This record gives sequence, C-alpha cells and structure tokens, in this order.
Amino acid sequence: MGQQRHFGRYRLLQSYVGWNDEDEERIRRVAPLLQPHLPDLIDDFYAEIRRHPDVGAVITGGDEQISRLKGSLLDWVGDLLSGRYDEEYVGRRWRVGRRHVEIGLEQIYTNAALSRLRAGMLRALGSDWDGDPAGLLEASLSLTKLLDLDLAIIEDAYQVEALARLQRTERLATMGQVAGGVAHELRNPLNVMKTSVYYLLNARNPTPEKVVEHLRRIERHVELADGVITTLTSFARMPTPEIRRVPLDRCLREALELSQVDDGIVAEIVCPPGLPPVLADLNQLRIVFGNLIRNARDSMPLGGRLSIEAVPIGDDVDVTVADTGGGIEPEVLARIMEPLYTTKARGLGLGLAIVRAILDKIQGQLGVTSEPGQGSRFTVRLKAAPGPDGGIES
Ligand code: HEM
Repeated sequence: MGQQRHFGRYRLLQSYVGWNDEDEERIRRVAPLLQPHLPDLIDDFYAEIRRHPDVGAVITGGDEQISRLKGSLLDWVGDLLSGRYDEEYVGRRWRVGRRHVEIGLEQIYTNAALSRLRAGMLRALGSDWDGDPAGLLEASLSLTKLLDLDLAIIEDAYQVEALARLQRTERLATMGQVAGGVAHELRNPLNVMKTSVYYLLNARNPTPEKVVEHLRRIERHVELADGVITTLTSFARMPTPEIRRVPLDRCLREALELSQVDDGIVAEIVCPPGLPPVLADLNQLRIVFGNLIRNARDSMPLGGRLSIEAVPIGDDVDVTVADTGGGIEPEVLARIMEPLYTTKARGLGLGLAIVRAILDKIQGQLGVTSEPGQGSRFTVRLKAAPGPDGGIES
C-alpha cells in the first residue's frame, strides 16, 4: 500500500473519531505544556520496558540503543504535538509499525507502552493546566484521539507487514521444499547416467551388448528425469482443459499401459457395457488415472490386485482405483492431498495435488477411503457426457 492510501485510511479514521481543526488547535496549545515533561515520560517508558525482560529482549544493542531509541521517541512525540498531520506525517507513523515487525516486537506491547505514555501525558497536562476544567477535558480528549489514531496506524502497518513477512516466509519454505524434492529426484537418474557414461568412456573393449545395455540405461534415466520436469511443469501451469467426450475404457487402458505396472500385480479394468463417455480433457484425464494407478502400484511392492472400475451414478460416472496394498494411516490420509506431502522415499508429493487441480477445472471430485492393512480406494467422480437427445448417453 502506498503512502497516499495510508493517508486515505488515516483521513477516514480521523472522520470516524470526529477529529477537526479545533482538535488540531488544542494540540498546538498543549504542546508547550507537555514539552518539559517529555524527558521524564520517555525515561519512564524505557524503565518499564527494562522491567519486562520478554519485551526488552528485542533491544539487543544495550544502553547505546536505548539512548538512540529515546531520541527516536522524543522525535516521535514532537511530531505528534506539531499539529501538522499530512501525508508525510502518516508515512512516518506507518514506519514505526513496520520497524517493530522487523525487530520482532509483538504489537500488544506497543499498545501497553502507549497506554502508559498516554497516562503520563494526561497526568502532566492535568498538573500544569491553568485554564478551566472544561478546557482540560477537551484538550485531554483531543490528545487521546490523536494517540488512538497513531496507534491505529502503527497497528495497521504492523498487520500488513507481519502478513507480508509470513507470506514471504511460506513462499520461501515452499520453494525450498520444491527445490529439495527436485534435486533429490534428479540426482538419482543423473548418478546412474554418470556411471554408465564413465563405463562407456573407460571400459576396455566393451562388448556390443554391454554398450547397448548402458545406452539403454541412460535412455531410461533421461526419461525418468524428463518425467520429473514434466510433473513439475504440469503442476506449475496446467493448460486450460479442452473438454471433449472421452470414452473411459480407452482412457483407462492407456493410463494403465503407460504406468508400467509390473507382473506381480494383477490389474483389471471393469467398464460396464453402455457406460457413457465423460466430459474431460483426454490428456489430462490420462494424467489423473496414471497418477492414481502409479500410487496404487507403489503401495504394493510385493504384488497384489489393482482394480479399476467405472460405474454410472445419475449424471456422473464414478471410477474407483482400488489396491490391496498396506493402506493409509488416518493421520497420513488427512494430509495426502496437500501439495508436496509425500510418504515415498522417491517422489515430489505432487501426484494427488495434480489430480485435484485437474478435476477442479472439470467439476470432478476425488474421494478416498483406506484402512491400514486393507488397501485403499480412490474414487474419481466425473460428469457424464449428455447423449444426442440431451439425456445421458449410453
Ligand atoms: C507507544 C509505543 C511505541 C512507539 C510510539 C514507538 C516508536 C518507535 C519509533 C519512532 C521507532 C523508530 C522507527 C524508525 O526509525 O524506523 C521505533 C523503533 C523501535 N522500537 Fe518502538 N515504539 C513503541 C513501543 C516500543 C516498545 C514497547 C518496544 C519494546 C522494546 C520498542 C522497541 C523498539 C525497537 C527495538 C526499535 C528499533 C530501534 C532501532 O532501530 O535501533 N518500541 N519505535
């Protein structure tokens, strides 16, 4: 938010508390009365901070910093009592909140400190006031309004800055996680390739079979590395789906074929005759089922049964991918849809997040049930394509 907008907010708050020219005039009049008390009030301000070690912990520069802070606070009060509350003034007040976030001071302490400062100023005003009591009340109210306005600006700045910092930290943490995951996923295939390249360069008289074997290995691992990058880019910018009528049977078969399910797993696809096509982007739907099939495959390292079954339900079609693997613990189940969450030694933790992102765009849904030791069932709900007469096609 720019200085102009801060000023706009300040003006709004001024009108809310009924701030007017008379308030400004009263502040100018009380300023010389308060001036002689300021050094004592500021000493008291920092003495109180020192009595509270949790609050004082943000002051890391000792006495030298305190005497600098006393100077800053004196300037701050001088500015407060100047009677000129323009855009630059609001900008200076705003910076206080920002600075406090930088040093890690909790906003509640600023509120408490301001309350103490306010009490001191009002007491000083009362003791030196030489006019009538009604005038004292009005001057005290003007001072109170002014301090409350300042506190609101400091607090506003504090919240905006604290939120921005939190978002930056979270972004950095996410970037760190992604970078770590990508590095881990790429290092493995690169190491394998390095070993094969070393062999090809240094082996004395390798047989043609050995050469082919190593070239194939390199080729496989280039594909693996490429897959990691494809996953990442497909998550970062999944294109807008081209929604067509997709025959599920074909899509499921292709997804199964591409998923390299090994011989220890018995896989079957059940699509009842007359199953309507669904409304989806064929390429993206293949990614959805590919990810679910690979998860099912990975949950059964010792083999098992993988069944993929489509069932029409009203205007929708449910496709369930079920495995007979180890199942998912409830605390893991609660988190598996989160991006970057993974329990696999290898994997970016983006598979289900991609599935969800694709389904969101075509009004599809993903559900899961799982019992530890009993396997898992992931169900994708898709919109059935209407038939030529507008009803569901069969
Ligand atoms: C009425 C409440 C408060 C006001 C008006 C206030 C005012 C200020 C001002 C004007 C600055 C300088 C900002 C800048 O130049 O960028 C500042 C910085 C700072 N404030 Fe406060 N403050 C308040 C409460 C507190 C409290 C309770 C603490 C607790 C220790 C505190 C600790 C600090 C520290 C450590 C800095 C950084 C100083 C530096 O740069 O060395 N403030 N504050």
